[in-house]
Amino acid sequence: MENRIEALREYIDDILLNMTDTFERRCGYLHLYGVSHFCTLFALKRSDNVELATMAGMLHDIYSYKTLDTKDHAQKGSILAKEILDNIKLTTADETEILCNAILHHSDKKNRHSTFDEILKDADTIQHYLYNIDLPIIEKEKNRLKNIMNELGIKYEIE
Ligand SMILES: [Fe+2]
Repeated sequence: MENRIEALREYIDDILLNMTDTFERRCGYLHLYGVSHFCTLFALKRSDNVELATMAGMLHDIYSYKTLDTKDHAQKGSILAKEILDNIKLTTADETEILCNAILHHSDKKNRHSTFDEILKDADTIQHYLYNIDLPIIEKEKNRLKNIMNELGIKYEIE
């Protein structure tokens, strides 16, 4: 059976490898693979769909890295994700919708959406934090980060 995670990663890697800005390319690899790993972890922990969650992490910001434009990237990224998924034909229509909805909602860190959507938001939040814990925490992610640390049983003081 085809490994859908690897098939999607081949497609994503192709976009990242073609980025001429090497700093942004580094950020792209770190962030997409990092978020993808945390999506895997949270999906395992919360008994959700691990394969789809891993794929959501890989896809969620590809719009930003492809265009180097972060404005409305969740909305535009969900449209690009639909195009990619329709093109590579790895997912059913229902799975494509689940992935695109998670990407559409992922910047809305203060509100709650589906349990699957929350996996992507939490993975995005913890990857931002763990990239460099000495950098300021993104304001809208502070409360979410506190809840994540609590879920993981990590003692954590938020300033
Ligand atoms: Fe992200």
